[in-house]
Amino acid sequence: MSVEHNFITLGIESSCDETGIGLYATKQGLIAHRLFSQVNIHAEYGGVVPELASREHIQRIVPLVKMVLADANLNLADLGGIAYTAGPGLAGALLVGAAVAKSLAWGLGINALAVHHMEGHLLAPLLENLQPKMPFVALLVSGGHSLLVDVRGIGCYKILGQSLDDAAGEAFDKTAKILGLGYPGGPALAKLAEEGDESVFKFPRPMTNRPGLDFSFSGLKTFARNTFIQHPQKKADIAKAFEVASIQTLTIKCRRALEQTGYKTLVVAGGVSANLALRKRLDIMGENLKVAVFYPRQEFCTDNGAMIALVGHLRLLQGQCDSDNNINIKPRWSLEELLAV
Ligand code: KG4
Ligand code: ZN
Repeated sequence: MSVEHNFITLGIESSCDETGIGLYATKQGLIAHRLFSQVNIHAEYGGVVPELASREHIQRIVPLVKMVLADANLNLADLGGIAYTAGPGLAGALLVGAAVAKSLAWGLGINALAVHHMEGHLLAPLLENLQPKMPFVALLVSGGHSLLVDVRGIGCYKILGQSLDDAAGEAFDKTAKILGLGYPGGPALAKLAEEGDESVFKFPRPMTNRPGLDFSFSGLKTFARNTFIQHPQKKADIAKAFEVASIQTLTIKCRRALEQTGYKTLVVAGGVSANLALRKRLDIMGENLKVAVFYPRQEFCTDNGAMIALVGHLRLLQGQCDSDNNINIKPRWSLEELLAV
């Protein structure tokens, strides 16, 4: 492919409760992106209802693709390739994105590529002007995963540690539910914690007093439940204690991973990386250790189509693409299985 050619990749994200579409071009980088959040649809059920998520993706993807193309003043014929989230995620929701992507690519006679959702989160900081240099340690904290990853290059990932039970975001959501806050719980809990007094309750820092980089968050959630039963009027203080304990635990593990690898760069991504108290704490740690800490911009911390377009673009340009027209998804998929770029 000539260097002159402006290759344009369409990215489709539909792994959970956000329909995200992005357009990434060789010359301009990210040129357009749109998101339809299903939060209001799932809120009345207190969590994501997979079947409703799938149905909503069916209705939203095509209109959003049209809008994004119009935003960028482009047509379908301008697309060079189509990337879609193939996993991990909810099977039905993934199938919708995969089906649209593969059909569209087939119709247009261009390549499609299955993208790993967590690689999208991991590389989302590359959508910013100031970019992290590899190798780096990545802390990926979303609703479905908590991972510490040794990132040596694009596609060269070694998992250093992971949650043995609830993911960090999941623990935020469940604790928020216990406290009677709405869905999604993470941002609501963080907001309430701002009014809380840190000195009232001391929650444990799970798995920090033994070596290793794995996490466990379900005990914190149980601790929150028991505390709430005894002190139902102290919601804000409980939210604060939970948030402080989670953040400290994540910070301790990041420090360990940085010391273990000797790397001087940390990337923090996934929905929980939107948490300002977490960012503040990690920034202080970074200053102390002389480590540069990178985050995606707020809107790209949570699920979005821009990160999928970016990852797809990088890989499609290297000649990677799906080998057939079948609509395949990978609801369970390890980052370590990915090909290097
Ligand atoms: O990455 P994401 O959008 O979806 C998954 O891939 O799972 O992450 C969503 C998670 C939810 O659990 C949500 O509660 C959490 O990220 N989250 C937060 C904040 N914003 C989103 N958790 C704590 N503080 C926040 N400000
Ligand atoms: Zn995500």
